Amino acid sequence: EALAGAPWFPKTIYDLDKCSKRVLMYGTDLDADHPGFKDAEYRKRRMFFADLALNYKQGRPVPRVEYTPKELETWSKIYRELRALHKKHACQEFLDNFALLERYCGYSEHNVPQLDDLSRFLKAKTGFRVRPVAGYLSSRDFLAALAFRVFNCTQYIRHHADPFYTPEPDCVHELMGHMALFADPDFAQFSQEIGLASLGACEEDLAKLATLYFFSIEFGLCRAKEPVKIDGSAVNGDSKSSDFKIYGAGLLSSIGELKHAIEDKPTILRFDPDRVIQQECLITTFQSAYFYTQDFEEAQQKLRMFTNSMNRPFVLRYNPYTESVEVLNN
Ligand code: TRP
Ligand code: FE
Repeated sequence: EALAGAPWFPKTIYDLDKCSKRVLMYGTDLDADHPGFKDAEYRKRRMFFADLALNYKQGRPVPRVEYTPKELETWSKIYRELRALHKKHACQEFLDNFALLERYCGYSEHNVPQLDDLSRFLKAKTGFRVRPVAGYLSSRDFLAALAFRVFNCTQYIRHHADPFYTPEPDCVHELMGHMALFADPDFAQFSQEIGLASLGACEEDLAKLATLYFFSIEFGLCRAKEPVKIDGSAVNGDSKSSDFKIYGAGLLSSIGELKHAIEDKPTILRFDPDRVIQQECLITTFQSAYFYTQDFEEAQQKLRMFTNSMNRPFVLRYNPYTESVEVLNN
């Protein structure tokens, strides 16, 4: 059989209920300096969110959550500052789609959007859906969901002590960082292709894919597009051509790291998969390097060249009618 020896992987969207439960938790699996870790009330609140996620079943509506005044205050503070930074530094595709989220998904300084509303909106736009998750998943479980155009989203919010940076993903990261680009058809396709390549991959290939995911979808930069005049010639062609724009969600959700990437002159290298896979993914501190492509198309092409060179003894095809993958012998 073609699958002999390959690690288990989900074959249908409903198998994701088996993948989204193994989470790394602060206090048990992760012990970086988490600002909420010593706050008993915060930990209790986190248990509530963990429960929602662990009991979730694919296909059901995501439970709606009422955020507390304190949580809303954290959200508002970040929303205002991030929006100002986005307008200056986020890529155009992100900004265009973010405007839609403000119009249709309850995005505002005064309201934390509901995952269920996002899931419905994205489903109609690109076929993406979100499901709640209790914390960090393994790369294998996380990437597998992307193959089915499903994104695992945390629903709890970061501790109010440090709104600028959190060492673990939270709903600010998902909502302010990720959601807008999943409404972009090309970006959705790119994301799904990483997911499909990950299914049944060997450990070594999986680690490489996770690193490529990390330095694109989480921390990627692209080139600013030249403004173009009606006659097709570039405006200010010389002055702006070296500017970077940001599309990575880990930067777009962190006031601290976004400013760092823009102002502190970090190492920024071309996104070449063979180089990117050498880079260590730092999950609880700022990255020590970032990678850029001209645009999503370049990222897509480079990813495809990379996945074509992976050695998996079978071919998978996604069937959107049944929301499952079919295994074809090679
Ligand atoms: N630092 C991010 C923020 O403040 C959240 C985050 C923690 C994260 N670990 C990550 C994002 C790993 C991407 C990848 O919003
Ligand atoms: Fe993320």
